[in-house]
Amino acid sequence: MRITVIGTGYLGAVHAVCMAKAGHEVLGVDQDAAKIDALAAGRAPFFEPGLPELLAEGLASGRLSFTTDAAEAATFGEVHFLCVGTPQQPGSNAADLRHLHAAVEALAPHLHRPCLVVGKSTVPVGTAAALAAKVAELAPVGAAAELAWNPEFLREGFAVEDTLRPDRLVVGVTGEHAEEVLRRVYAPVLALGTPWISTDLATSELVKTAANSFLATKISFINAMAEICDATGANVTTLADAIGHDVRIGRRFLDAGVGFGGGCLPKDIRAFHARAQELGVGSALDFLEHVDTVNLRQRARTVDAARELLGGELAGRRVTVLGATFKPDSDDIRDSPSLHVAELLLAEGAEVRVHDPEGLANTKSAHPGLECVESLEDACTGADLLLHLTAWQQYQELDPAEVAASVRTPLLLDGRNALDAGRWAAAGWTVRLLGKPAPAPAG
Ligand code: UDX
Repeated sequence: MRITVIGTGYLGAVHAVCMAKAGHEVLGVDQDAAKIDALAAGRAPFFEPGLPELLAEGLASGRLSFTTDAAEAATFGEVHFLCVGTPQQPGSNAADLRHLHAAVEALAPHLHRPCLVVGKSTVPVGTAAALAAKVAELAPVGAAAELAWNPEFLREGFAVEDTLRPDRLVVGVTGEHAEEVLRRVYAPVLALGTPWISTDLATSELVKTAANSFLATKISFINAMAEICDATGANVTTLADAIGHDVRIGRRFLDAGVGFGGGCLPKDIRAFHARAQELGVGSALDFLEHVDTVNLRQRARTVDAARELLGGELAGRRVTVLGATFKPDSDDIRDSPSLHVAELLLAEGAEVRVHDPEGLANTKSAHPGLECVESLEDACTGADLLLHLTAWQQYQELDPAEVAASVRTPLLLDGRNALDAGRWAAAGWTVRLLGKPAPAPAG
């Protein structure tokens, strides 16, 4: 099939290469010429495991190409996927739908034959219906352009895997034709036995926001438990393991720590609440405000714990923050808890150095006040405190004895509860964890 993918960010770039991998002819479209040039030259514009290989494969097969021209896209595709960003509006909690409307306005007037426009972006419920009306209004008479919704559940760091082998496929359609077209698009994925859920437009939009709200709630729930554990000497990891054995609860997304960040969960729960308020049912989702508050409080709690470890004063102390990205295996620093904590430490007068295997280029431009250090060894040398805030594998492989020899004081705060705390303590470190007792120091 001939498919266009409009928007080549995390979602679109991965979707485009995976559609080419599935055997379709794919044209990726973006108004950002630099991004399109990079992709056409085989360079992934961001870090995502597996993406460079699939990009190279798609380009070499001749089935994958890129353009900035919306008119070219309109004539190329029988299916057009909308994959543009829907960030939080500045000064408001609502989603900013400008890019989505602009994409439809650029595409629809050039549609001259029957085709399907499929939204994948995360949107407030009701957006698909509004865009369907816009497509009908702007497409030339006889174009017979239909609109469907097909939310995406990919996780950064696993985006390729999640697109090629998703947990489920959800489509919101207004007729059988659209569903039949989408079944053909996803035939190789369906052949794996992937569950297929076909529903109306509104439900399909809600599935995505409900899923992300549930995940965010799960994380804030366990972080709230971590606060109780800290007040009582209990252990939040054991608690999570124990409740997670109940299959109705499940162990995943119960890792307590500095909390969630990124370009999705924080803005999605805010936009969902804002949309519910517009619909007159805001109180149904008031709890999401608490989910947000609990999440942001973990960042303040981390700073409090750092201050306490350093004897009550951060000013003039050297703190090394391990990890800048909002999660490992990504270079994405959007709403990163690590960088928020780093900025709070800086505001209290600490000398903050930040290390990250992939996120330093983005950090340098967005946080000019923070000292970014490329070498992990240099980042740790002379530190008064190591603050582990993004669980990169590289940090788990550090030799605590070796690092102890280079720091000024062997103090470690593991804000992800992901390091082997017993090993660090045995090497002479004073360790602080979130929501669980620290292991006894050696000797
Ligand atoms: C999320 C959803 O998982 C995905 O389905 C959706 O399509 C987009 O939003 P992503 O933002 O890539 O994906 O990251 P995710 O793996 O969900 O992690 C989000 C944040 O929660 C990270 O900051 C992570 O560190 C944090 N987290 C996750 C926890 O603090 N504890 C956990 O137990 C799990």
